[in-house]
Amino acid sequence: MQATRTIGVALSALALLGVATLSTASATPDAGDRHGTGAAPLVIGHRGASGYRPEHTLASYELAARLGADYIEPDLVSTKDGVLVARHEPEIGGTTDVAKHPEFAARKATKVLDGVTVTGWWTEDFTLAELKTLRAVERIPDLRQRNTIYNGRYEVPTFQEVIDLSKRLSRELGREIGIYPETKHPTYFRKLGLELEPKLVATLERNGLNRRGAKVFVQSFEVSNLQSLSRKLRVPLVQLTSASGAPYDFIDRGDKRTYADIVSAAGLREVAKYAAGLGPDKNQVIPRDAAGNLGTPTALVKDAHAAGLKVHPYTFRAENNFLPLNFRSSAVPSEYGNLFGELAAYWAAGVDGVFSDNSDIAVASRAETFPRR
Ligand code: G3P
Ligand code: CA
Repeated sequence: MQATRTIGVALSALALLGVATLSTASATPDAGDRHGTGAAPLVIGHRGASGYRPEHTLASYELAARLGADYIEPDLVSTKDGVLVARHEPEIGGTTDVAKHPEFAARKATKVLDGVTVTGWWTEDFTLAELKTLRAVERIPDLRQRNTIYNGRYEVPTFQEVIDLSKRLSRELGREIGIYPETKHPTYFRKLGLELEPKLVATLERNGLNRRGAKVFVQSFEVSNLQSLSRKLRVPLVQLTSASGAPYDFIDRGDKRTYADIVSAAGLREVAKYAAGLGPDKNQVIPRDAAGNLGTPTALVKDAHAAGLKVHPYTFRAENNFLPLNFRSSAVPSEYGNLFGELAAYWAAGVDGVFSDNSDIAVASRAETFPRR
């Protein structure tokens, strides 16, 4: 570990001179988890290649795979007719063109999602056939203006379509493209009578993916649904944590424990009873200091590894807006900063994988730090 840290720190200094560029990464062999296996860490295409295409579209996932991602990451919500589709949240006003469809104007509704009042259009109010008439748009056009040229071009994909894509690309690229689905707002959907988990299990079963060794991780910010899934799935589970707050299922049942409790050494030992990994906010691994610069690592990676958990933090993005102050290239939020530098610090901290909107940069950075892959 010390050698890795030294290499990482040195590369971090060198990478300060680097410029994040879009380059096509070569295919990598099977990327196992480093912790305990000696393999290099994983690159997970966060919402696909969402730095370059509107998130959660087949175009975004395909590009992530072609840029070298080991896994593609669909967030899953339910339609009215119980089909799992890839969206970051049930409200779709920010990521589709639904507002431009007069036939759906009356569907606009104000709801409470995990305690937060939100107005918009909701996947649970649309059948799959209706959702398929919409087209995806860029979520953050001010930061990702280039992505807006793809607005209106891609459908909202089903989970099955994401799996089909991963299988097709695995054959074409000669390496297995894994899937890393996340159940989004499971308590919310359960209360609507649209439970996500039975559909998730059935879909994995149907595709021959509910087996040991399948290249699949299943993740959730809630706890109880992962505990339940641990009795039904034979693939590894990942407990997501936020830098603040608490799992909504805990809040819903009056359990006072928070994400801070979960990432304590004792909390991590509890997580290890039902999950194989932890997906923390990157700031829980290396917080920023008072000035906004990248600080020093917490004990999280060490404690998680001691509990037997892999650590896959989120989210690594090239724009200055998302980078610590000392890795920004300018005061312009949309301009690219030094993502290489940030990633080098996390490789050195011992993480086992990263969620990144820019798979190509994460793959190139990994190759610098782990050159023998
Ligand atoms: O699932 C890892 C990461 O994606 C969690 O954050 O909000 O982007 O789904 P979010
Ligand atoms: Ca996610």
